[in-house]
Parts: sequence; structure tokens; C-alpha cells
Amino acid sequence: MTQTSRVRAVPRFYVTTPIYYVNDVPHIGHAYTTVTADAVARWHRLLGDDVYFLTGTDEHGLKVARAADEAGRTPGEHADATSERFREAWELLDISHDDFIRTTEPRHHQAVQRFLQRVYDNGWIEKGTYAGWYCVACEAYYAESDLVDGNCPIHGRPVEWLEEDNYFFKLSAFEQPLLDWYESHPEAVQPEGKRNEALGIIRQGLDDVSISRTSIDWGVPVPWDSQHVFYVWYDALINYVTAVGYGADPERFEVWWPTVHHLIGKDILRFHCVYWPAMLLAAGVEPPHRIHVHGFLLVGGEKMSKTSLNQIVPADLVDDFGVDGFRHHFLRDQPFGPDGDFSYEGMVNRFNTDLANNLGNLLSRVATVVTKKCDGIGPQPDPDSPLASVAREVYETTAAAWAEVQPSRALDATWRLIRDANAHLETNEPWKLEPGPQLDAVLGDALEVLRIVAILATPAIPGTAAEIWRRIGLSGSPADARLPGAAAWGGYPGGVAVEKGTALFPRISS
Ligand code: MSP
Repeated sequence: MTQTSRVRAVPRFYVTTPIYYVNDVPHIGHAYTTVTADAVARWHRLLGDDVYFLTGTDEHGLKVARAADEAGRTPGEHADATSERFREAWELLDISHDDFIRTTEPRHHQAVQRFLQRVYDNGWIEKGTYAGWYCVACEAYYAESDLVDGNCPIHGRPVEWLEEDNYFFKLSAFEQPLLDWYESHPEAVQPEGKRNEALGIIRQGLDDVSISRTSIDWGVPVPWDSQHVFYVWYDALINYVTAVGYGADPERFEVWWPTVHHLIGKDILRFHCVYWPAMLLAAGVEPPHRIHVHGFLLVGGEKMSKTSLNQIVPADLVDDFGVDGFRHHFLRDQPFGPDGDFSYEGMVNRFNTDLANNLGNLLSRVATVVTKKCDGIGPQPDPDSPLASVAREVYETTAAAWAEVQPSRALDATWRLIRDANAHLETNEPWKLEPGPQLDAVLGDALEVLRIVAILATPAIPGTAAEIWRRIGLSGSPADARLPGAAAWGGYPGGVAVEKGTALFPRISS
């Protein structure tokens, strides 16, 4: 009798950030989306998933061409220089992307041309004349009724009247297919409020949209008409399929595309939750698996942008709070979904409470007592410790929150374990105990909590988690741990050297 051997496929997880315009330098709004995507990617790596994490830069269009002009450079030179700034910022913030796409790369031009040629061949693109109010900052046309006092509804800046011969994507034909898709994929857009917003846009009725320009040449040429380049948004969205081999490597595309999770800010909801699924349907490709939409980071109640004075550069905050202080703050303090107000004071508070007091103190207290009373050798945890059940619950809550792309809730859960371990130390006062089984159990339990926390906090504070791991005497890295097994109580081996070291997070005075 033959037996069919079943190979259990490793789950795949494809996660993307928006690709950032190169007219602007990286600010904390961009960093917020990117750090969140990074943390989610790292969580899935801990689960043992095969992860592909994509970020990159959006380099075509009028906005970039004008910014280059102002800087006295060609668009290509300007794109090279600014794209590099994004790469540097992500390196500084410990971003673990697998791919950094630039829309000026040949692989992208090729994919855009193949994708839109397919849409054209399928009969969803036709020629017409376009006239309308155009906001260069948005790279978008607005209807008269969308304007606020004659200005762009997003930027509040004057719009320009543009008229040109364009190719149009027949978006109007996709109203019903989009509604059907939303109906059959109720979880595709998260959170639900944002799904309703997208449905609202579709139900109001969709006009055909212009997807090409003749007025500039800084773009991807339309393959069937060399007078035109594609309008920047219709080239940009396609980056998500370019990176996993659309039109170039069908096998690769087949396995990765169905697992995609887009992370975006609410400013680009219309493009991602209406136009993009319609374009994919028009090309005969399944719309995105998930789109997670977050709110704006506000400073003093205003959105950050190049034109406002409140723009904050990530590197300045990293100077004050360190990379992990930066990452932890934005992941923990800004729930994913609603708008959130950023303040320096709030950042100092979060740093002092979570990192210096709770986490930093737990490590330093335990390491101090182990050094003094156990010759620096960490004891084993107690299998029946009251902290074991807390650790189990914390794991469940943490895992559920990461699965829903809710880093703030995930970290809140993880920190409960730290708080409970500190309380356990205060109750048992190991610093007053004589060496013996009781002391060993209390210290072993706290070391076990630190081991589990190092794993669960890896997505947020990877550098610190690795340092805790090392100081409590473990080899390898917490990033190599595999969940859920690695979070089970009792993994700390005991009998290993614990290092006290200097404070992980020295308190910051406000
Ligand atoms: N290039 C387009 C996106 C194309 S994706 C196919 C674009 N770029 S952008 O540089 O303006 O960046 C947009 C993204 O940056 C937002 O969607 C959001 O994720 C992030 N943010 C920019 N400013 C932000 C805040 N003030 N707050 C939170 N996120 C912000 O649009």
C-alpha cells in the first residue's frame, strides 16, 4: 500500500508599506507606517512564516519633477538622492525589509507595462479628454464640489486647471464588481470603519479615471502610445505586484500575491481600497488579501508634512531615545487605526515608564541579586510558579493582537507580564532572602519572564531583546525562537552566567 506523504507548507506572509514620494525627506509619519510593518514582519518570522517585507520609493510624477527642478537637479538625480535618504532612515530604525523597490527600476517599468497592457487588452482602458482641478501635492484631480474654498481638500493649497488628452480606466464599470468583492471579503479592509468609508465612496458612484499624461515625460511610457506616460498613481500601485514577480515569474507571483497585507495611511484609502482592487479585477488578478488602514500622526493637532513647521526628523528622536525607544513609542503609543497626537513629553513618559522603570528595572534587579547571591549563575524557574499562567495568557493576548496588526495592544499585553514579574519580586523580596531553594525559584521565575519577554518584544525592540537574551546567559538570538513553543513556561535552562551590565534604558528627565 502506498502512503501519500503530506508536506506541510510553511505559511507565507507578504507585507508592504506605501512607497514614499521622493519629493520629501523621511519624517516620523513615514517612519510610523514602516516601523509597524517591520514589527508585524518580525512577529511573523517568529511564528516561522516565510515572510516577504517590501518597502520603497515612488519616484515619478509632477510633484517629484517639480521638486527636482527646485533643487536644480534632474528628476533622476533627485530621486537617487532622496531614495537614499529613505534607505538610510530605515537602516537607522532597524527595519528588516527584504526588498526596497524604486519605481524607476527596469523591473517595475516592465511590470507596469505588462499589467496595464493587460487591462487595455481586456477593454478597460479608452482614450478621452480630461479637464479638471489638479492638486500637484496629491497628484490627483478633484471635482469642483470636492474643493474647500477653491483649495485642495487635503493640502488647503490652490489647485490648477489642467486639460489634456488622456487614457481613461473605466472605473465606473467596476462599481458592482467592487461591491460584490467587499461583500464576499468582509475582512479585506481593516478596521471596519475604514471598510465602511471605502464602501461609501463606491456607493456614491465611480467616475472613470484618467491614467495617463502627455504634459510630462517623467513616468513609465504607455506601451501602445509613446506620446503618453502613465499617471504616477497607476504606476505606483503596481509596485506591490512587481516585487513578487508579476509578469516575470508567474510561479513566484502565484505563491506570494494571495498572502499580501498592505499597510497604509488613511490619506491613500481611496487609491488602495477602491482604485487598486478595481485595477486588479480589470487585469484578472485577485484583489489584495488585507488592507490595514491607520490614522494620521498629528503634532499639535496638525498632520505632519513638508510644508508645515512641525515636521520631526526620526534621527533627532533616535539621538534622544535610541532606536528601540523610538520604535517602542510609536508602536505602543499610537493605536493602529485612529489619529494620534505625538508629543515629546508623551514620548519621555512612555520611555521612562515602560522601558526604564518596568523592563530596565526588572533586568537590573534580577541581575544584581543573581550576581550578589548566586555567584552570577542564573537558577531555573519553578514549574509551578504563579507567573506561568500569566505568561500563558499574555502569550495568547499578544499573539492575537499582532495577528490583527494591533501593536499597541500586543505590547500592552506583553508588558503585563513584566509588571507582574516586578510585583512578584516585590512580594518575595529576593534581596532579603538567604541563598536556597526559595531564592532560586523567585530569581529563576524572573529570568524565565525575561526570556519570554525578550521573544515577545523582539518585533518592537529587536536590539534590546537580543541584549537581554545575551545578559541572561542565552546563546543565539530571540529572533531565532519559534512560537508558540518558545513562549511555553520553563524554557530558561538555569546554570548559565547572568551579566549585570549598565542600565538598559537610563531614565530621561523631561
Ligand atoms: N507615494 C504615495 C503612496 C503610493 S503607494 C502605492 C504617497 N507617499 S507619501 O510619501 O506621501 O507617504 C504616504 C504614507 O506615509 C501615508 O499613507 C502614511 O502611511 C505615511 N504618512 C505620511 N504622513 C503621515 C502622518 N502624518 N501620520 C501617519 N502616517 C503618515 O502617498
